[in-house]
Amino acid sequence: MNDRPLLQADAIDKSFVMGAVVIPVLKGVSLSLGRGERTAIMGASGAGKTTLLHVLGGLESPTAGRVMFDGTDVYSQSPARRTALRASQTGFIFQAYYLLPELTVLENVMLPAMALPRRLQPKSRATRDRAESLLSSVGLSGRLHHLPTELSGGEQQRTAVARAMMNNPEILFCDEPTGNLDSKTGDTVLQCLFRLVEEHQVTLLLVSHNRALCDQCDRVLFLRDGRLETDQE
Ligand SMILES: Nc1ncnc2c1ncn2[C@@H]1O[C@H](COP(=O)(O)OP(=O)(O)O)[C@@H](O)[C@H]1O
Ligand SMILES: [Mg+2]
Repeated sequence: MNDRPLLQADAIDKSFVMGAVVIPVLKGVSLSLGRGERTAIMGASGAGKTTLLHVLGGLESPTAGRVMFDGTDVYSQSPARRTALRASQTGFIFQAYYLLPELTVLENVMLPAMALPRRLQPKSRATRDRAESLLSSVGLSGRLHHLPTELSGGEQQRTAVARAMMNNPEILFCDEPTGNLDSKTGDTVLQCLFRLVEEHQVTLLLVSHNRALCDQCDRVLFLRDGRLETDQE
């Protein structure tokens, strides 16, 4: 094992330009995530949590600053290399699930394997076995051939958890993973999520405005006025 942080962000700025108006959202955010560490970021609605997660996860380039993933400068890579890095090393869970409506539960979970560069793609049998095993571990063995519309919200999010784990990622990014669920259903999803994170030793970065959820992580940071703070509200 090396001691290098898995993910390191230095002095991240992110602004959106809307016509003549510049909206600064992130103002000098630095963050370091150790391997296996579970970090939560809290912040009010509109504070920039989703924006930060997208920048750290390789989905949206910062206006300034640098994101290093395991020693690789994410945004100095070609778009194709960045896509490959994201597909092979990261998993995303969104508040709104984002399952593809025309695919079954099993197909949705298998899909990330198809996004891998060809040389990294497992055989289709192995992909299917892994998807079935992940779905079993989130309690959905009985729903493999259902469509997303035939599932409850909690079942859809558990499918999304299994999908995020498909390529055996180093890190999981979760954006308000229980934001659309009632608290009991949300708890079931979180149990699945934290169990898989533990079992597979995945690094976790989660954003939420739910304090109880954030307290299940190893540390909680606060995004306020475009900056990350460690103090309490
Ligand atoms: N694509 C975009 N274009 C313009 N403004 C955006 C865009 N995405 C987010 N914003 C603005 O950035 C701010 C932070 O948004 P967001 O990151 O979604 O916050 P949070 O997830 O904490 O609710 C908001 O003011 C939002 O309007
Ligand atoms: Mg958000």
